[in-house]
Amino acid sequence: METIRLSNGVEMPLLGYGVFLVSPQECERCVTDALEVGYRLIDTAQAYYNEEGVGAAIAKSGIRREDLFLVTKVWISNAGEEKAARSIDESLRKLQTDYIDLLLIHQAYGDVFGSWRAMEKALEEGKVRAIGVSNFQAARFFDFAHYVDIKPMVNQLQCNVMTQQTGIEPLLRETQTRMMAWGPLGGQGVDGIVKNETLAAIGEKYGKTAAQVALRWLTQRGIVAIPKSSHKERMKQNLDIFDFALSADEMEKICTLNQHDEGTINFSDPAFVKYLIETYG
Ligand SMILES: NC(=O)c1ccc[n+]([C@@H]2O[C@H](COP(=O)([O-])OP(=O)(O)OC[C@H]3O[C@@H](n4cnc5c(N)ncnc54)[C@H](OP(=O)(O)O)[C@@H]3O)[C@@H](O)[C@H]2O)c1
Repeated sequence: METIRLSNGVEMPLLGYGVFLVSPQECERCVTDALEVGYRLIDTAQAYYNEEGVGAAIAKSGIRREDLFLVTKVWISNAGEEKAARSIDESLRKLQTDYIDLLLIHQAYGDVFGSWRAMEKALEEGKVRAIGVSNFQAARFFDFAHYVDIKPMVNQLQCNVMTQQTGIEPLLRETQTRMMAWGPLGGQGVDGIVKNETLAAIGEKYGKTAAQVALRWLTQRGIVAIPKSSHKERMKQNLDIFDFALSADEMEKICTLNQHDEGTINFSDPAFVKYLIETYG
């Protein structure tokens, strides 16, 4: 598996497996399948309510802990120094591990500076190996990164061929923050990407599907992708993208598919913010 190097030297796989909307009951089976087909990075979150399933699959897999890369995220309800610290210990317990490879603030709401202090402390104590944020769009990211000592090593954003996140790239470069793509196949209702004719035509040349071309395009930009599938065959397909390379022309052609550079969710929409804070804050 190809890797990228985070600003603190930690090596991170370029492709992983995500478990958003995988039920707690199904999660252990899905992660077991994912590990069997070769994934070594697993992306979960406190808010997915399936960290236990991830932990159980890992414990039973027999794979050495140092060969795995575990990502989880502090949810809004755990924002603030004390609550975040307690939630980190809870995640460690559920994941049945002594350390998390990458810990992210899931959403840019609540006392994120308090959470960050707890995360910096966890980094110092060896409970986590790297720290970052998620869903911090350009202005929020710049503001946050400006005021913290340890800059976020990763920003996990909605990113795919139709939501390319080119606008935030220069800001991420300034702080040596790597991008990680959620929804790399478009998330739910993925027909738009996995059946896209431009991607399918490019894939034909290499014997690859539109989904594989979409994932290859991300990883070739140096962006970590974490596709989710409950089907073992698709898990295999999504991992099988390292034996071909897109040409510069093909990369450019895919750039023309960009429709919503910053993503399809408006994180500044008062109704959305009100819903999140009143429900989870
Ligand atoms: N930080 C955040 O706020 C945030 C938000 C959303 C997601 N995430 C993370 O990112 C991960 C991936 O995002 P996502 O789950 O939203 O979406 P995604 O990976 O872009 O798409 C998942 C969908 O694609 C289908 N699929 C997967 N492989 C396919 C293939 N080869 N051909 C056709 N269809 C395929 C899956 O169906 P089947 O399962 O039926 O195969 C599922 O419906 C999540 O699991 C989670 O870990 C993070």
